[in-house]
Amino acid sequence: MRRILITGSNRGIGLALVKHYLTHDNTTIIATCRNPDQADDLSTVAIHHPDRVTVLQLDVIDPQSIADAVKTISERIDRLDMLINNAGILPGGVDNRDPKISAFGQLDPDAMLQVFKVNTISPVIITQSFADLLRNGQDARVINVSSDAGSITLRDKGCDYSYPSSKTGLNMMSRCLAGDLRDDNIIVVSLHPGFIKTDMGGVNAHLTLDQAIPQMVETIDNLTMNNSGQFFNWDGKIVPW
Ligand SMILES: NC(=O)c1ccc[n+]([C@@H]2O[C@H](COP(=O)([O-])OP(=O)(O)OC[C@H]3O[C@@H](n4cnc5c(N)ncnc54)[C@H](OP(=O)(O)O)[C@@H]3O)[C@@H](O)[C@H]2O)c1
Repeated sequence: MRRILITGSNRGIGLALVKHYLTHDNTTIIATCRNPDQADDLSTVAIHHPDRVTVLQLDVIDPQSIADAVKTISERIDRLDMLINNAGILPGGVDNRDPKISAFGQLDPDAMLQVFKVNTISPVIITQSFADLLRNGQDARVINVSSDAGSITLRDKGCDYSYPSSKTGLNMMSRCLAGDLRDDNIIVVSLHPGFIKTDMGGVNAHLTLDQAIPQMVETIDNLTMNNSGQFFNWDGKIVPW
């Protein structure tokens, strides 16, 4: 039985990944989210698949929440085969970015720091916290959900500061993790999921979840140790740093 933990799985890409992995045989999912009591869509999925989906509280920037989740999971299982660090924030979304994180002249350090805490630092801390379970995993892999917005090479005009930079930082974190976890045979990559219509991506995004998620999952499942430390597009192509 393959065991997958997904952060931020109550809506958007995270919830779609939970639903998609349910179509794979022999897969169980630990679907984590900040507020399980308010995660109605996820709860509905879990009610229909009680043996395969476990909903667990996990706020990725709350040390106590992380410690509690690690303890609960470690008491139940002895290994994790995949960690998908999906939780992320872009306050205001693509269509209405908060100027405190994006507009030169109005930037606010505390608002900016929050973006970095969630998008850049939490994936490393979550990976560190679940590392022992991942070391016991089969073909273990860590997927850091990044964004091509974080590609310095692809950036050809002005930048809206916090969100893209937080993903650039995440990409370096992925590379660091890939190095540190190589001897444990744990694959680590950054993955751009596509520009998808979610609360974050907005209505003008290019892809629906139904279009992007199957291809994204195929890309994830095809990864080998040779790919560790790389930055992938949802369709399996490499994204330039
Ligand atoms: N949509 C796109 O076009 C696009 C493109 C490139 C990259 N991405 C990346 O893909 C990932 C998912 O994005 P999405 O489009 O699905 O966004 P979304 O619809 O806004 O969902 C974001 C998810 O992250 C969770 N989250 C935020 N802060 C959290 C925290 N402190 N602890 C736990 N969970 C937290 C949210 O939980 P709550 O409901 O509790 O807020 C929600 O489940 C993000 O990392 C994003 O940067 C998205």
